[in-house]
Amino acid sequence: MRPGSRRAALCLLLVLLLAWHRERAAALTLSTSSRWIVDQAGHRVKLACVNWPSHLEPVVTEGLGRQPVGAIAGMVVSLGFNCVRLTYPIALATNASLSSLTVRQSLLAHGLAETAGGVEVNNPGFLDLTLMESLKAVVNTLGEKDVMVILDNHVSKPGWCCGDDDGNGFFGDRDFDPDVWVDGLASMATIFADVPSVIGMSLRNELRGPRQNTEDWYTYMQRGAEAVHAANPRALVIMGGLSYDYDLSFLAARPVGVSFAAEGKLVFEVHWYSFSDARAWEAGNANEVCARAARDFERRGGFLLARGLPLFLSEFGADLRGGDLRGNRYFPCAAAVAAKHDLDWAYWALQGSYALRQGVAGMDEVYGVLDWSWTKPRNETVLSRIQALQRPIQGPGYGEALPYTVLFHPLTGLCAAASAAAGTLELRPCNETDAWAYAPPSSTLVRRDAAAAGGLLPCLRAEGRGLPARLGTKACGDALSTWRIASDSGMHVAVDAAPELGGGTLCLDVGADGRSIVTNPCACLRGDGTCDPERQWFKLVTSTRRVARTPLPTLA
Ligand SMILES: *[C@@H]1O[C@H](CO)[C@@H](O)[C@H](O)[C@H]1NC(C)=O
Ligand SMILES: *[C@@H]1O[C@H](CO)[C@@H](O)[C@H](O)[C@H]1NC(C)=O
Ligand SMILES: *[C@@H]1O[C@H](CO)[C@@H](O)[C@H](O)[C@H]1NC(C)=O
Repeated sequence: MRPGSRRAALCLLLVLLLAWHRERAAALTLSTSSRWIVDQAGHRVKLACVNWPSHLEPVVTEGLGRQPVGAIAGMVVSLGFNCVRLTYPIALATNASLSSLTVRQSLLAHGLAETAGGVEVNNPGFLDLTLMESLKAVVNTLGEKDVMVILDNHVSKPGWCCGDDDGNGFFGDRDFDPDVWVDGLASMATIFADVPSVIGMSLRNELRGPRQNTEDWYTYMQRGAEAVHAANPRALVIMGGLSYDYDLSFLAARPVGVSFAAEGKLVFEVHWYSFSDARAWEAGNANEVCARAARDFERRGGFLLARGLPLFLSEFGADLRGGDLRGNRYFPCAAAVAAKHDLDWAYWALQGSYALRQGVAGMDEVYGVLDWSWTKPRNETVLSRIQALQRPIQGPGYGEALPYTVLFHPLTGLCAAASAAAGTLELRPCNETDAWAYAPPSSTLVRRDAAAAGGLLPCLRAEGRGLPARLGTKACGDALSTWRIASDSGMHVAVDAAPELGGGTLCLDVGADGRSIVTNPCACLRGDGTCDPERQWFKLVTSTRRVARTPLPTLA
């Protein structure tokens, strides 16, 4: 076939595929039930999303020049994400000369002939689609793999986000006319109203800058919300706060007022990165900094959950290469908070690299779950920490068991459970956790699902430095089986050791094998900013999931 007719055939195929999928997939309608996001049956749907940008200068979804879109969507699924927060600039909806450009034209206009060549190889059907058709085709491909999509208005004018003075920060800024924005939201909501996989619309990413104020926030966010809801009453309407999505604290004094409040469609979104407390993470004691950052998270947005309002942690993430001290301390802290609240979330980000970011072609994304070439995970080790948060542990439909405590180890994304060696524990995938009973700030740690097994009492005891913590035969409730929360982070689980065990405070820790659970002298509980306690961090998280019971091994 000549190249032209080959392209035409591919386009036709694409159109047919899109039509077929539109028919096939039933529209998923989500709504809220107090703080939870639920499906039509009232079952919780936990958003475990990954951010995927289409808002940079070319307005072409990142990665199309590197891998076939179906392969990328397949990786999203195989990595365990059920949803994508797909970004776009409002200009795509409001500037016809932009939205009618083809992918090829836009890439070439930005000097990205190499990316255009990559699209021709990997996604030939996309090259002559308009930018709007291209975005739709990405959404449809995700839908085809049952991946939910949240369309996120990231900026007005295409380009990297965000700066205080980039003209895109707040209503009234150079490129941010509120009327144009409301029109743009309404068109996007209309265009995607009948696309089943689009379950939510995020009104605007990271409002910020010298113009920001709460008065205008209520005025325009409520208008934007009404416009989206009128065009697509099925979609969740997601509202971010001020100061780069760091601040929803003002909602404590004044709730949002929308006409469709009774329909359960409003969700709030908040962001959290290490760089907002960069200096503290680097210089401070990680327990103390984590405690402050976690309290701050509650004040910034976490408090909404207790008021029955859904909160979506729509951006968090860290350098996945392991060399960033701040990120290494921040990430397990943030993961512990996400687990504690069992938050809905979107990791930043999917992309291993960008076609063009901040003037650099082919820029690497060190936070990206995929590697530079979009072929495989950047770092399998760190991936498991993110994946640990994908499984719901509470909420409507997940109440099979009475609430119990999980010992979650955020550094590895694993949980404490009985090991094959009698009475000892090891790190296991959290779907294989044991159910513990614990009453903070100080009590025994009792394995609730292990009554009368092999003559062992079900309470956990410390046996000394570097030795496994065990379920023993001695009576429970003495010093070595009374565990207290010993640091500000709330993640050091400690006993006071008897003099014959060397005295001092012993904390749960991971053994040198990286798997067994032992006790060791507690590391840098406070003050010291030079040492890293994260290996000893165990977050006590409440779950109501059914426990996959493993019979407790008997004493050898
Ligand atoms: C609309 O998009 C075109 C193509 O990118 C651009 O040249 C033009 O400046 C845009 N118009 C406005 C008003 O932003
Ligand atoms: C993956 O992350 C781990 C833990 O942070 C780090 O030690 C390792 O070097 C990273 N590997 C790669 C390939 O970046
Ligand atoms: C737990 O999840 C892992 C994958 O992460 C899977 O291999 C394993 O079978 C699951 N275990 C149970 C009990 O479902």
